[in-house]
Amino acid sequence: DQDKLDAFVRPELVDFNGISMTRVFTSNWENVQNFQARPDDILIATYAKAGTTWVSQILDLLYFGQTERQKTLPIHERVPFLEVYLPPNMSGTEQADNLPTSPRLIKTHLPYQLVPKSFWEQNCRVVYVARNAKDNMVSYYHFNRMSYGQPAPGDWNTFFQNFMEGKMVFGPWYDHLNGWWKKKQTYPKIHYMFYEDMIEDTEREIDKLCSFLGLSPSAEEKKMILGGTQFDNMRKNDMANYSTFPLMDFKISPFMRKGKVGDWKNHFTVAQNEEFDEDYKTKMTDPTLEFRTTI
Ligand code: A3P
Repeated sequence: DQDKLDAFVRPELVDFNGISMTRVFTSNWENVQNFQARPDDILIATYAKAGTTWVSQILDLLYFGQTERQKTLPIHERVPFLEVYLPPNMSGTEQADNLPTSPRLIKTHLPYQLVPKSFWEQNCRVVYVARNAKDNMVSYYHFNRMSYGQPAPGDWNTFFQNFMEGKMVFGPWYDHLNGWWKKKQTYPKIHYMFYEDMIEDTEREIDKLCSFLGLSPSAEEKKMILGGTQFDNMRKNDMANYSTFPLMDFKISPFMRKGKVGDWKNHFTVAQNEEFDEDYKTKMTDPTLEFRTTI
């Protein structure tokens, strides 16, 4: 089994339908593409490191509460990662097919154009989470340092350049976030959320999420959800903090790292910040999609 997993350590970046990916996410493509969504499935779509786990935990608690499932199953089993393939673990599609509960909460980092078509055909709800590019980049850098299932990030300066050039697993941040934002115009069942808004007022954002989902949790349930999804509580919770996931070294950097807006200021040099802002303007031309890099 270790041998099987070894083949996925520090995988190479490859071009896949115009998007940079690795074999971790392309090896099971046949099954991903043919995945059969159900009308009540909820797809949690994000660019990597935008707050996927946070929103997954919120949704899981909203639908299933503090049950045995919360206490015994890690978040990556409660919310299968559609395109992941890390043998000997079950593939994401198998995990989703084997989920005993409904609705199924399914996570993906795919750009919208690679999402299996049955999600659109079944008119599934999609919860998209976006995070400002600077913090997203920093979080991704530390993640690639600690996760051996990702390509090695190189040093910070190298990673910084690669991010701007879109040489990242799941392709350019810019295209991903713009693409899903545009998709919302023709497919209204997308709830587009911002990590910064969630940090600013988690309760308000949960309320908005609930109205999208048609849920009305009691005050008590809401309190339980707010508690169970607080950064410090998730960090301590082995069923939410990824400590059971293969190929991660928490000594290098924990999965639940800082959970803040503005940590980019501790990484970007003044020159890098200027270079980044110049380049950003050329790629993010839609005035209706705006981000906050501080709150
Ligand atoms: P940092 O590396 O900046 O700390 P994803 O789940 O998409 O991989 O995103 C991981 C990022 O979300 C990490 O960011 C992690 O700390 C942050 N995160 C996870 N749970 C959180 C929570 N409850 N509150 C705030 N941030 C959270």
